[in-house]
Amino acid sequence: MKAHSYENAFLITGGIVLAMCASALAYATFGMGMHLPGRVAQIDPAKVYQTPPFNKPGVRKIGEGRYEVVLVAQAWAFMPAEIRVPRNAEVTFTATSVDVIHGFDIERTRVNMMLIPGQVGRLTHTFREPGEFLLLCHEYCGAGHHMMYGKVIIE
Ligand code: CUA
Repeated sequence: MKAHSYENAFLITGGIVLAMCASALAYATFGMGMHLPGRVAQIDPAKVYQTPPFNKPGVRKIGEGRYEVVLVAQAWAFMPAEIRVPRNAEVTFTATSVDVIHGFDIERTRVNMMLIPGQVGRLTHTFREPGEFLLLCHEYCGAGHHMMYGKVIIE
């Protein structure tokens, strides 16, 4: 084989792989409706604690089996640090950060967001398994990053 026919084979293979990636992405987005947790609203990061609903962080029951968790991330803690909801509860997390980018990841679930100052993040999850789950900050946010965690207790 001549050198340029190897080159062609690589180019064609690369093209096929790219086309496969693009169609998988298109299928996930349009076919399965997958998307990143939305940017719901913008907020003045300097006035988070004065802006509803973040002036009252915590867990609220909003309907039969439905809960809302309003959460604020600040170096290096989550507020509230402990979230308690019953099993099978549909929980909507509304969260933001007051200082730097923090992560919001509940282990063994698909709950995973970035908390960006000035942006409100929202995500809904139904907890089927009872137990205690760690809520972790998984974006490096400074010296206390490794100590930034909370607990989600499903009763
Ligand atoms: Cu907050 Cu890492």
